Amino acid sequence: MLTANNIVAGYVDEIDILQDVSVEVQDKHITSVIGPNGSGKSTLMRVICGFLTPKSGQVLWDGNDLTGRPSHSMAGLGICYLPQERTVFPHLTVEQNIHLGAWTFRNDKNRIDSALDRVYELFPLMRERRNSKAGDLSGGMQKILEIARGMMIKPQILICDEPTVGLAPIIAKEVYDTIERLKQDGLTILLVDQNVREAIRIGDFVYVLEVGQNKVSGTKAEFETDLHDMIKNWLQI
Ligand SMILES: Nc1ncnc2c1ncn2[C@@H]1O[C@H](COP(=O)(O)OP(=O)(O)OP(=O)(O)O)[C@@H](O)[C@H]1O
Ligand SMILES: [Mg+2]
Repeated sequence: MLTANNIVAGYVDEIDILQDVSVEVQDKHITSVIGPNGSGKSTLMRVICGFLTPKSGQVLWDGNDLTGRPSHSMAGLGICYLPQERTVFPHLTVEQNIHLGAWTFRNDKNRIDSALDRVYELFPLMRERRNSKAGDLSGGMQKILEIARGMMIKPQILICDEPTVGLAPIIAKEVYDTIERLKQDGLTILLVDQNVREAIRIGDFVYVLEVGQNKVSGTKAEFETDLHDMIKNWLQI
């Protein structure tokens, strides 16, 4: 289980963007974090993944304290982080991009080959397009490529920040389907999403952040009942 406990963090000393935020991510489930623009969702992911050291609070992964550990140590701990920004290399092929996911074991050819086989089994479309330039893929396929690349390390948890932002609904659906498939395969998922309906639909647990604080959290069932009011009142959309 991954937990972030009472996180206080920001980018400059005087301003705490996260003001005592906690989340719990259960193994083999999808936990969705939602909230308006600027509520601190990405900041929380950066703290969890070691890109930002919190002023106080703790990040625990299977009971081990990750707080302040450098981001480059995450892959070795079975944690795959996909930031909000696009991270494919458009001029490299799909396969070259996927290979980059094996950077931490780049000298182990056998391990790379077997990881690549497994990734192509999980993502047959990526095998089909393996010689295409990544930049020629649609936005949704590029996101799926990022996920496929992340799977090279065979992570235990995937932390995905706004994977469908800017995608047409039908393309976004491919990305959500991919995430659900990976959950069925036993992966733990922490998902940040602005699409409240989809985040609740695929999430087993949901957290709402508002201006750097926990607003409310609960199971999918609890959220589905109050969805309408929640959208209207809390998220003001
Ligand atoms: N690198 C940064 N340096 C300084 N301030 C930042 C930085 N990144 C984010 N912020 C500020 O921190 C606050 C929270 O931003 P954050 O990106 O965590 O929100 P978010 O919930 O992910 O928003 P969005 O839904 O737009 O992605 C905002 O006020 C933002 O301006
Ligand atoms: Mg964000």
